[in-house]
Amino acid sequence: MIELKYIDVKKEKLKVLIIPVCEDKDIFEDDIISPLIAKAKEIKEFKGKKDEELIFYGYPGINAERIIFKGIGENDKISTEVLRSFAGGVVKKNIKNKFSEVYIEVPTQNLTKIQKDELLESLMEGAYLGNYIFDGYKQKKDNDKIPLKKICFIANIDTIAQYAYLPDKIKTICDGTFLARNWVNIPSNLKKPEQFTQSIIDIAEKENIKATVFSGKILEQKGFGGIVAVASGSVCEPSMVILEYMPEKAKKTIALIGKGVTFDSGGISLKSQSGLEDMKIDMAGAAASAAAIFTASKLKLNANVISIIPIVENMPSGTATRPGDVIKSYDGKTVEILNTDAEGRLILMDAMSYAVQIYKPDILIDIATLTGSCMAALGTKIAGLFSLDDELASKIIKAGERTNELCWRLPLPDFYKDQLKSEIADIKNVSDDKYGGAITAALFLLEFVGDTKWAHLDIAGPASTKKDESYYSFGGTGFGVRLFIKFIEDFISEIS
Ligand code: BES
Ligand code: ZN
Ligand code: ZN
Repeated sequence: MIELKYIDVKKEKLKVLIIPVCEDKDIFEDDIISPLIAKAKEIKEFKGKKDEELIFYGYPGINAERIIFKGIGENDKISTEVLRSFAGGVVKKNIKNKFSEVYIEVPTQNLTKIQKDELLESLMEGAYLGNYIFDGYKQKKDNDKIPLKKICFIANIDTIAQYAYLPDKIKTICDGTFLARNWVNIPSNLKKPEQFTQSIIDIAEKENIKATVFSGKILEQKGFGGIVAVASGSVCEPSMVILEYMPEKAKKTIALIGKGVTFDSGGISLKSQSGLEDMKIDMAGAAASAAAIFTASKLKLNANVISIIPIVENMPSGTATRPGDVIKSYDGKTVEILNTDAEGRLILMDAMSYAVQIYKPDILIDIATLTGSCMAALGTKIAGLFSLDDELASKIIKAGERTNELCWRLPLPDFYKDQLKSEIADIKNVSDDKYGGAITAALFLLEFVGDTKWAHLDIAGPASTKKDESYYSFGGTGFGVRLFIKFIEDFISEIS
């Protein structure tokens, strides 16, 4: 579906040819495209400013029915994200206009400040991600919502030879992102813990990834007190899914722990009505960690990756955990649950202790829609990042900058730890202070990682979006999947 080709636009009959136009520099060294851009700029309404658009129909000498010139702004402001967003935007627009294929001209290397591989990567990624439609429950499909069948990037022969592998790689990474988006978009009545668990196992089987599931009574017997407590109000059986990708020659192990609450009503500490429907996204961390391990395996990355995914539904009922209850975590600590809506940390603590004890990973990263407080601090486009390890934190930030999954580091100060002291148990699950909730949640998790190098990503904000914007669509964003792949790739290239 995504292609990289050389095409003679004078000869080949195309319906839609798209040319990105820079405002203050010609970014093409091309005898056909450069004169076309010069012609377009003769029209006074079109300067190549960001998002400006101009269309030529039936231009003499060019065999495309229409040439769409799309502004991408000033040259020194062109970033990989500008290109991703440009490509996603034109794909969306052409879906709306009911076309089935588009051809996009790739700017000449070295005429922007972007590195050669990143130029192609970001264009392809934006286009592929912009081609996502989730309308699985509509009986009648809108015909202006049919994904494009073909997105072809036009480049010169040398580029094509050098990057022949890239379309497949981008497809694999973006399909992983779509898998996470789809899971997040499924409503909670259709992704009950048993169903979500099964859906993960089905893919693991297909991908040849080892999957182990602990569920029901086994969780109790093994001492996963947090998972059992959170699930106790729901009629649905909880589970913990363990996925292992262990390629033969890999030396290091990364564990990805993802919060999988298929619906978070708050439990007995019931949430208020507003935005309750959004709590179907409370398994976005689980979706990202599962999709990332499947993608790592498809790309045959040379590192051991373990995904551990606790899956529960958080509901109020006669059997639900009560505020004030005391439970025992997998690593033996007693926890006083003062607010049943702070449930994510209770299932994560068990999964994290298990990961540390059984796998002794070199790096442990958990990803979770953990707190509204993080969303209040950083908004909907930035994740909160917590780690005591400066190097790990900066590597995650760097990977996120490259994929535009932005992470902002927040502190883990010792002097807030007192807020989690319980009168009657080893620790309590919430602070009495109504401020700094993202930090106290992270400090709670810190108690369960021992000496392991650990980072926590709070994705309550960026896990989903209310807008169809650039290469995102209403609903799940798949936040974390591309970042994890980039992080693992960087990690491998450093140790080899
Ligand atoms: N799932 C929520 C956090 C959340 C909020 C995710 C908004 C996505 C969007 C989490 O379980 C929760 O309820 N956290 C509470 C913690 C509080 C009770 C200490 C919160 O943030 O209010
Ligand atoms: Zn909650
Ligand atoms: Zn939650």
